[in-house]
Amino acid sequence: MSYYVIDNCIKCKHTTCVAVCPVDCFYEADNFLAINPDECIDCGVCEPECPADAIVADNTMTPDDLDKWDKINREVSSWGVNIIEEKEPLPDHKDWDGYPNKYEEFGIIPVKDITND
Ligand code: SF4
Ligand code: F3S
Repeated sequence: MSYYVIDNCIKCKHTTCVAVCPVDCFYEADNFLAINPDECIDCGVCEPECPADAIVADNTMTPDDLDKWDKINREVSSWGVNIIEEKEPLPDHKDWDGYPNKYEEFGIIPVKDITND
């Protein structure tokens, strides 16, 4: 069991989710955050914290979506950039909230600079 970050996080990245995670299992990309499903303890406290409704429980996902977002969250977590403190959302987050199929259009970009200011 795990929670997953899904499409609407891309280009928004509010990061309010990381402040509440008791096991610090969020990992950062330039335009997205991921949950490491092997570290997530399924507590669910991050889900209501996301203003973009971009965190979901695995048991609410279709098999295809679960397969897709499990791979994506694992890959981004494997890049190893752990994030434990909230920061400002991406500057254009309001423009991208709700934009469909962001992953297919923009993909997920690794952080270029670990400070990522
Ligand atoms: Fe962290 Fe709990 Fe969210 Fe998993 S469900 S990512 S453990 S806050
Ligand atoms: Fe993304 Fe929502 Fe966290 S937009 S960074 S999953 S608060």
